[in-house]
Amino acid sequence: MSDTFVSSPMRDNWYQSSSFYGSSFALITSVNEDGITSIGPYQLSFPFEVINERSWMVVSRPGSNTATNVKRTHKCALNFIEYDKDKIQTILEFGFPGQTPAEKDAYNTFDLIDSPTEGRASNTIYPKIMKDAFQVFECTLDVKRIEENPILRDSSSAHLLLNIDNILVKEEWVPYIDGTGDKMPSVPMTYGFRGASTFWFGDVNPAYKLPIPDKGAKDDVVYYEANRLDDEVKFTREACKELTGIPPTFLRQALMGILGVAKEQGLTKIDRDFVVELNKQMNG
Ligand SMILES: Cc1cc2nc3c(=O)[nH]c(=O)nc-3n(C[C@H](O)[C@H](O)[C@H](O)COP(=O)(O)O)c2cc1C
Repeated sequence: MSDTFVSSPMRDNWYQSSSFYGSSFALITSVNEDGITSIGPYQLSFPFEVINERSWMVVSRPGSNTATNVKRTHKCALNFIEYDKDKIQTILEFGFPGQTPAEKDAYNTFDLIDSPTEGRASNTIYPKIMKDAFQVFECTLDVKRIEENPILRDSSSAHLLLNIDNILVKEEWVPYIDGTGDKMPSVPMTYGFRGASTFWFGDVNPAYKLPIPDKGAKDDVVYYEANRLDDEVKFTREACKELTGIPPTFLRQALMGILGVAKEQGLTKIDRDFVVELNKQMNG
């Protein structure tokens, strides 16, 4: 392949008409006015806020069923399925604009079920979820923050800022979330609509894991790791600075130890003094 870069003309929908963009996609379920759950595939759909706020951004053409339904009900579910070549054809058909939910329902090969979440059984507001999904994010449209933000409010696309109310993960997948196991879901890929007549999909090779490079635990790494161990007990930045000497392979175990002692003492904050004192006690 030549090393020469050339400029690619900017076009609308540039991510698929001027460049390459491969990613996973969400199958969004939402309810129309007749109470029918509709499924729409969305590639422009990604984590938006990840700390404190948990939200998701979807970029949709403004008149899609999904955008219309979500603006009315404020509720939707983002369903993620594993790669299955037979199902890709149905997903492709779901992506053809201008179909009513009833028309999609006629050829839908996915089973739709009620959400197990209390108060979220399907009705004219809450959608069904996809039985085959390995995970589902149940969301609420953040109407207030969209109205307050000119980029989201005035865009020529519908930018759906969705707060994630619930993350549902199939039970069998839960043990793999922390990466200590040997499996990841096989996520289908899309490269979008190209050349007026084709839509590109791909599967991925099985996921594999690599150890994090051993560059010594910087306090940012310690802080990140420490503050996702427990919902109630939090480590201060200063406490984490005291813990940068721990080799990465032992970091989690060491943090769990400190956390255990703090919990025994009923603490909700682990500060520098606590860590220094504990160190003293452990080193005699
Ligand atoms: C895999 C896939 C990904 C898609 N991603 C998007 C997207 O990110 N944004 C969008 O507006 N349309 C996207 N489309 C097209 C929509 O699915 C299409 O507009 C469809 O009408 C949406 O369904 P709905 O009207 O029921 O919401 C995608 C289509 C496919 C097949």
